[in-house]
Amino acid sequence: MSALTVYEAIGGETTMRRLVESFYDKVAADTLLRPLFPPTFDEVKERQFWFLTQLFGGPRLYTERRGQPMLRARHLPFPITTRHAQAWLRCMASAMADADIPTPAREAMLQRLTATAYHMVNTELEEEQRGI
Ligand code: HEM
Repeated sequence: MSALTVYEAIGGETTMRRLVESFYDKVAADTLLRPLFPPTFDEVKERQFWFLTQLFGGPRLYTERRGQPMLRARHLPFPITTRHAQAWLRCMASAMADADIPTPAREAMLQRLTATAYHMVNTELEEEQRGI
């Protein structure tokens, strides 16, 4: 018997879709994060679904469709501070609760995503300091 991937353990595509839906509802309601995103979330939602599926051991949807993730480089056009990373992680933790992801899987996922979120930080200048 082989060990379940996190993707399988949480319920595969159905749960991952619920997670991503709920996550972007929260991002859309977050005053710090909302301005960084385009008017509609359709594209990023789909790409995030591909990415998280792949990251947690499901089919390699992201690489098949978008190539190497290179996520830090893809985020460089957006000024991301530590506060953005924290807000992103808060939205994700709360979306995981909405998607009924059980605690052990939730902790494993959050730990992995925490590293990725802080890796995306590319400026420590808050808006006031950038003169916006
Ligand atoms: C740290 C805070 C973060 C902020 C503020 C942020 C913000 C953004 C923004 C503004 C976009 C582009 C949306 C668009 O052009 O439609 C984006 C794309 C994306 N983000 Fe993030 N992000 C963050 C962290 C993360 C993390 C931790 C992950 C991975 C788990 C991630 C995965 C993605 C993916 C997969 C895309 C689509 C990339 C592509 O193929 O074009 N982001 N993000």
